[in-house]
Amino acid sequence: MGKALVVFGSTTGNTETVAEVVAKVLEESGMAVDLKNAAKVKAAGLAEGYDLVVFGCSTWGDDAIELQEDFIPLYDDLEAAGLGGRKVAVFGCGDSSYTHFCGAVDAIAEKAASLGAKVIDLPLKIDGEPDEAEARDWAREVFRSAA
Ligand SMILES: Cc1cc2nc3c(=O)[nH]c(=O)nc-3n(C[C@H](O)[C@H](O)[C@H](O)COP(=O)(O)O)c2cc1C
Repeated sequence: MGKALVVFGSTTGNTETVAEVVAKVLEESGMAVDLKNAAKVKAAGLAEGYDLVVFGCSTWGDDAIELQEDFIPLYDDLEAAGLGGRKVAVFGCGDSSYTHFCGAVDAIAEKAASLGAKVIDLPLKIDGEPDEAEARDWAREVFRSAA
């Protein structure tokens, strides 16, 4: 059923919680899954060997969009990840009271698409505390879209 990589950047643990749920659902669907913290990865060759890459990143900043800090070096060097032709899905936690609700999700999806990734048009933007059922449903949809 293929290999999936889930990489998350999370400061207070919300996006990490969702990443764990997504990884579990993809595993239950039959994929071999690697779950990695953005703080511990290098962009170079990151996506190689994976059929599906799932990025999770929370949004910070105020007037301007800021990605979660651990994800910034990966985003800046995303060209090196080998995303061309690969299926990519993006999710993140945020707060809709901010101007750019989950702006990191859009920024990552746009950059991945510009690098030739096949971005699954199904961004997940979670408002407030993560909802496990929402994360599970999304991961199942991503799996179906990636198959
Ligand atoms: C100083 C600050 C700035 C934030 N800026 C945004 C923002 O611009 N857009 C947004 O959707 N959420 C924003 N948030 C909300 C966080 O993204 C949200 O709390 C999220 O759940 C954190 O996820 P994490 O624990 O995975 O890092 C901000 C929160 C703080 C404390």
